[in-house]
This record gives sequence, C-alpha cells and structure tokens, in this order.
Amino acid sequence: MVRLYEQGIPAWSYMSTLFIFILFHSVTIRGAALKQEAPLDSGATLLNHSMALVQRMETLLSTGNGSDITLRVQTIYMDEVKVIQAHSQILTLQSDVFEDLLIRRNDSVVVLRETSDCAAVFDKFVRYLYCGDVSVRLDQAISLHKLASKYHVLGLQHGLTQYMTQHLSSDSPNSHVVSWYNYALKIGDTVLRDSCLQYLSWNLSSVMQSGEWSAVSEDLLLSLLQRSDLILQSELELYEALEAWINHNQPDASTVESALRALRYGMIPPQHLFRLQKQSLLMLKYYESIRDLLYLAFQFHSASPIQLAKYFDVNCSIFTPRNYLSSSWGSSWVINNPTRDDRSFSFQTQLGPSGYDSAKRVTWNALFSPRWLPLNARSTYTELSAMQPTRTEGGRPRIIVTPATSSPDFAGVSFQKTVIVMAKQQGKVVVRHVYNFHQSTEEAGDFLFDADLQRRSSEYLIDSSLYLHIIIKPLYQALLIARK
Ligand SMILES: *[C@@H]1O[C@H](CO)[C@@H](O)[C@H](O)[C@H]1NC(C)=O
Ligand SMILES: *[C@@H]1O[C@H](CO)[C@@H](O)[C@H](O)[C@H]1NC(C)=O
Ligand SMILES: *[C@@H]1O[C@H](CO)[C@@H](O)[C@H](O)[C@H]1NC(C)=O
Ligand SMILES: *[C@@H]1O[C@H](CO)[C@@H](O)[C@H](O)[C@H]1NC(C)=O
Ligand SMILES: *[C@@H]1O[C@H](CO)[C@@H](O)[C@H](O)[C@H]1NC(C)=O
Repeated sequence: MVRLYEQGIPAWSYMSTLFIFILFHSVTIRGAALKQEAPLDSGATLLNHSMALVQRMETLLSTGNGSDITLRVQTIYMDEVKVIQAHSQILTLQSDVFEDLLIRRNDSVVVLRETSDCAAVFDKFVRYLYCGDVSVRLDQAISLHKLASKYHVLGLQHGLTQYMTQHLSSDSPNSHVVSWYNYALKIGDTVLRDSCLQYLSWNLSSVMQSGEWSAVSEDLLLSLLQRSDLILQSELELYEALEAWINHNQPDASTVESALRALRYGMIPPQHLFRLQKQSLLMLKYYESIRDLLYLAFQFHSASPIQLAKYFDVNCSIFTPRNYLSSSWGSSWVINNPTRDDRSFSFQTQLGPSGYDSAKRVTWNALFSPRWLPLNARSTYTELSAMQPTRTEGGRPRIIVTPATSSPDFAGVSFQKTVIVMAKQQGKVVVRHVYNFHQSTEEAGDFLFDADLQRRSSEYLIDSSLYLHIIIKPLYQALLIARK
C-alpha cells in the first residue's frame, strides 16, 4: 500500500504549462458542480467524463508529473519518512492550512510531522485532495479525521463524522465505538460523542458481553451508570458486568465506590441481594460503602412503597427503573406485515419491582394501527374521499398501551410505558428508536412518524415484520420527589 515517490523535482520551466492544465481542470470540477444545480439548456446533451478526469488526477498524483512541491511526511518518534510529489495548487484548493504552509515555505520541500497512525493513512488523505473520494476502514476513521481536522479539510471531516455515526454497529475485532467515544470527547465533538454514548446505552447487553466492555474508560463507565435509558436484561446483569469490569481494570477505591453507588439496588429482587451480600467478593469488600443503599433497598422490598414514602425522605435514583428486557418488565412484540391491518396483543408484568408487589400481576393490552387518522383529520378525509373515493393512503402508525383491568393496588403508582423499535442497519438488527409515553397518556405522540412502513425496503421491516419491545416501568412519584 505504501507508495514512495522519490523522483527528482521537475524543471521550473515545465511548471507554467502544468499550472494551466491544473487550473483548467479545477475550473471544470467546479463547473460540473454548478451544472448539476442549473437545468441543462433545452436540447443540449451532457457529456460527462468526470470519472476519466478523476482517473487522470490519480495518475497525476502517482506519477508526480509536473510536481512543484515535495511533501516529506516524518513519523514522530520514528525514522520513517514518506515522500510524496504533489502540486501546491491542488493541495491548497481544499485546505487553507496547506495554503499558509506553502506560502511561507522557502523551499520546494515541506516537512510534515505526523503521528504514526496519521502517517500510515497520509497517502489516502492526499489522494482524497486529488480525487475527492476515499475508502475508509473502521480502524482508519480516527486517523483520517485527525488529518482532516489538522489541515481544515471540512468536507472530509464532516463525511468521516457521518461515517462513524453510521457504523457504530459494524463488527470489528477492536472496540471501535469506545475509541471513537474517547476521540470525540477529546476533540469536543458532542454529536459524535452522544451518538457513541447512545449506541452503547441502547446496546448495553451486547457490549457487556463483548471484549469492548473491559476497554471502557472510567469516565465512560460512570456516565453510563448514571443513565436511565440503558437497555439491558436486568440491574443484576449490570452489577455482574460491573464486577467483571472492576476485576479487569483494578481502578482505585473511590472509583469503585462511585460506580457501586450508581447501581439501583431497589431494582434487584431481594433473593439476589442476599446472595450478592454473601457471595460477591466485590460486595463483601465494599459492603460498608453501600450499606445505606442496601438498607434502603431492603426497606423498599419489605412493604408497600407508598408506606415507605410516608416515613422516609428519599432523594436518589435507586427506585428508578432503566429499560429492562427481562420478562417481568415487559414483552417483545413482532408484528408481521404491519401495514395490513390493526393488531392487538396482551402481556403481563409485575405490579412493581418491590418484593412486596412483584408477585402481583398486571395485564396490558397493546393496540397497533398502521394508518390511524386523528379525529379532526378524519372528517376532512371523509369529505375528500367522497370526491376521491379511490384514496386509501394517509394516516400514521399509532400504538396504545392500556391496563386490561384496574385495581386499588395501582394507587400511587404511575406506569411509564416505553416502546423500543428495532431497525436494520448495515445488515444488523439495532435499536433505532425508544419512545417513552408520558405517564398520563396511553400513546406515544410521534410513534414511527417517519418510518415509511409502506415501502418494502423500509429499514424498519425485518423480514417484513416490525420488531417492538414494550416495557412497563412502575414509578412511585412519592419516592422520586423528595418530600419537604
Ligand atoms: C457524471 O458522472 C458521474 C459518474 O459516472 C456522476 O457521479 C455524476 O453525477 C455525473 N455528473 C453529472 C453532472 O451528471
Ligand atoms: C509525464 O511527463 C512526461 C514528460 O513530459 C511524459 O512523457 C509522460 O507521458 C507523462 N506521464 C503521464 C502519465 O502523463
Ligand atoms: C527559510 O529559510 C531561513 C534561512 O534559510 C530559515 O531560517 C527559515 O526557518 C526558513 N523558513 C521556513 C518556513 O522554513
Ligand atoms: C437531591 O440530590 C441531588 C444530588 O444528589 C441534589 O442536587 C438535589 O438538590 C436534591 N434534591 C432535593 C429536593 O433534596
Ligand atoms: C449490538 O451490537 C452488536 C455488535 O457489537 C450488533 O451485532 C447488534 O446488532 C447490536 N444490537 C443492537 C440492539 O443495537
């Protein structure tokens, strides 16, 4: 892959002709871009030889014909030098950093110092400046992004950020999402950072079982543990993964304490808490640091949470559920051919995570309509369809989740409903949306608003089915808002 160019610098007399060649072609590139926007003259035919031009630019770079500048790319801390014969006019077209460098130079040789990862992709980067395209692998994205940032090649920088946000779920032997997250944090790219964080949060069960988990940094671990939108089997799964992470990374005691205090012990059934207290080496070692939280959790499990709230001021997250996939919290729902007609589905959950309530069941009915029209839209629709009786489209997907029965046990509990929607991305099934219903309503307002379920190729259709998972989260407002 590595090409070295060591031929001599051509005579200056040769240069003027070449500049005309280059300038002519760069104008042609811009001209083509303009033409795409303006419609062709009527009667005119477009002859399009852009591909051949790109090939000629590539040849120009690889032969170094007419080069007026030699780039010596030195790898920092190493003896390696890569020499590239280039054309200053082309380098400066997209990069004001090259423009400055080349104006200030004394010599036809410019020395660039790069880290080894950037030096390794430097010829890919220069090729992009000549040809406008680049092929990227997962492990090259950061190095190319560093170069694009250093030399202010904004189009490439933007394209790479987009590439990374779209390739979070790609298979890789290394932990690319964690390293992209660390990079985004370092350069202050909040969009990329948040995409990585959301991906890790929504795919936590897989991440915790993968090699990526032990590569998670302390900061990342602590920010994940704060989140209520984590999607995972259960809080117990998170405890066990945390224990594995601590065993592997051996952080200092204060990090272990912060991490352990971020777990939501109220969401772990008491029989598991008993076992952890006796058998988890981590809990045995740090028991004193979390004794108050465990005590609170056992109090929570021992009586109605409403009773607990009467006597204790509680201001912490240990009673707030995350998105647990295990069956006591909800159910998956696969809807085959979702656009065909309305579907309904029933499932059961525990009344609440407290040991006092967990044996009590609540039955839920879910209704899915592929093309629901709000009432006000429906009246105009009827008028319209009187005139155009063939019109059948319109409407939007709707989902409603209601309890099948009511019970005095529900007093003081508000059930937050969450619907997780899967989609296919790069051939993988990934979480695409998480809809949280406001506690006082039974439906999500903008459910699958832009999902184009009618299209066979819709990314929301996996083998022509819609994959949902509904979670019911009992919230005890009295416990979540500290009383004065
Ligand atoms: C010219 O052809 C290339 C590749 O074949 C294509 O990407 C480009 O859009 C075309 N340009 C115009 C103006 O049609
Ligand atoms: C490079 O320049 C030389 C000398 O002008 C010329 O003979 C040769 O054909 C050129 N090569 C290419 C690939 O244009
Ligand atoms: C230009 O040359 C002078 C003297 O040879 C040298 O001191 C200076 O550092 C050079 N500048 C650059 C940008 O290389
Ligand atoms: C709850 O605790 C947080 C920090 O743990 C604090 O910032 C907040 O003020 C507390 N709220 C009340 C109502 O005490
Ligand atoms: C989770 O990540 C793995 C790859 O690490 C991917 O195969 C899977 O589709 C992802 N699942 C979700 C729900 O995002």
